[in-house]
Amino acid sequence: MDSVTRKLYHVCRGNRALPDALLPRNGWKIDRIDIGARTRNRGRLAGGAGGLIDIASMKFPRDMEALSDILAARDVGWVAALWPGQLEDVSIRSIVRGRCMGYITLPTTPDELGHAVGHARGMALLTEPVIHDPRTIVDGEMIGSCETMLHLFRMIRKVAICNAPVLIQGESGTGKELTALSIHRHSARRYAPFVAINCGAMPEHLVMSELFGYERGAFTGASERKAGRIEAANGGTVFLDEIADLPMKSQAGLLRFLQEQRIERLGCAQSIPVDVRIVCATHVDLKQATSERRFREDLYHRLNVLQIDEPPLRARGADIELLARHLLDKLREDSGRRIRGFSDDAVRALRAHDWPGNVRELRNRVWRAVVMFDSSTITASDLGLSHCIDARTSSLDQVRRDAERRAIERALLRHRGKVADAARELDISRVTLYRLLESYEVDIARFLRGMRTDVPLTVADAYQSRIQRRGSCDSAGDQRGVTGIFQGSCTS
Ligand SMILES: Nc1ncnc2c1ncn2[C@@H]1O[C@H](COP(=O)(O)OP(=O)(O)O)[C@@H](O)[C@H]1O
Ligand SMILES: [Mg+2]
Repeated sequence: MDSVTRKLYHVCRGNRALPDALLPRNGWKIDRIDIGARTRNRGRLAGGAGGLIDIASMKFPRDMEALSDILAARDVGWVAALWPGQLEDVSIRSIVRGRCMGYITLPTTPDELGHAVGHARGMALLTEPVIHDPRTIVDGEMIGSCETMLHLFRMIRKVAICNAPVLIQGESGTGKELTALSIHRHSARRYAPFVAINCGAMPEHLVMSELFGYERGAFTGASERKAGRIEAANGGTVFLDEIADLPMKSQAGLLRFLQEQRIERLGCAQSIPVDVRIVCATHVDLKQATSERRFREDLYHRLNVLQIDEPPLRARGADIELLARHLLDKLREDSGRRIRGFSDDAVRALRAHDWPGNVRELRNRVWRAVVMFDSSTITASDLGLSHCIDARTSSLDQVRRDAERRAIERALLRHRGKVADAARELDISRVTLYRLLESYEVDIARFLRGMRTDVPLTVADAYQSRIQRRGSCDSAGDQRGVTGIFQGSCTS
């Protein structure tokens, strides 16, 4: 075992309390970190190493900040070496308790040190890896490995290569904005601006001036000329979030812009050509909004050329855990606390919860847990999800029925309400699936309404062929891309 070389970081300052003679030798390669040197930071520390913090050699509070920074390194098993009296200091106690696998009070021996850091390094190696599925894709901030997410990543790349408007639909917190950003980053426009506008957050009277800009004197208070957000994105992408909240008057202005690719600043009769791609998102059913006359139908058809549905978190299967670990990893780096991962009951709760707030809710729960947790692993109660694992006295039959119902609902979600596909996945006939849906009173209309939006192809076709005339997109007759969640037909 001693023939294996293990890395040992020795963090100290000047007058070391742990001279070389005290450090463990056999099998350890020692890398010294001078806490006073600014060049060293946690980003350079390799995981899977042992670490000795020579607290006895440091001065507090002067060294506290630099030490916290170094100790935030993931997968290093830290052991503190200090004088007994130093544990009286509250900040030192907190750093030892929160960040170290153990501590040694001086004086000590090489054997004792070797044993402690060997144990700490072993524990650090047990930290769960975030990504174990080789299919996992990390796209900017987005991560996913389930079939639904892989499909989404493929769609992003497909739509990125043309210029037609994209409509992203999905529940709140599913990652619509990240998807829009990813489309921009995969497109030829990536070096130009990505300008995000939340149509719901702007007061109605400001929307037009924000979008299109104004000339000096256009209205009271317009003391100088200002370019609008669309103009500011020239060459790039404009992301219109919560498009359903766009006031009617601005809908007319946006429609004009989409038809002419020109804008008119308020108070200026002259129009200016602007080259931007429009990507918009909504969590409401835009089609229904048109039938209720809350959204212009002509604008809806203009925007709904390429469509992406963002899958809800509950339809992403094992990705829920993957995302939870990914978010924990990011958040624990900021918190600087030593967290080993999720307890078994936390994992069960993550699987059982329905996630109405989607990834945003998951992020908030993990964040809260990182702040609130008391032991070394995050429990269901730290996530505020203990109710999901409460031991209920259910009959075996009830447990079976619950599991069956859940499997059916998730298959329907995965296949965006398509009963035939869901039945195939579940290996039952369509008739049986319908019977089960009836017996469980599953509201299939909810899936069909929420997950499938039928693009009126005649309009989409007309628009496609217009684009084709401009040479940006593929033939309208070629409907290769028209499937489940993505409707459009772009090729490279
Ligand atoms: N696939 C994903 N991987 C990692 N983080 C994600 C993913 N999807 C969403 N998030 C995170 O969830 C939160 C909500 O995402 P956002 O794009 O604002 O959702 P929406 O626009 O649909 O409401 C953000 O903090 C975002 O970083
Ligand atoms: Mg959003």
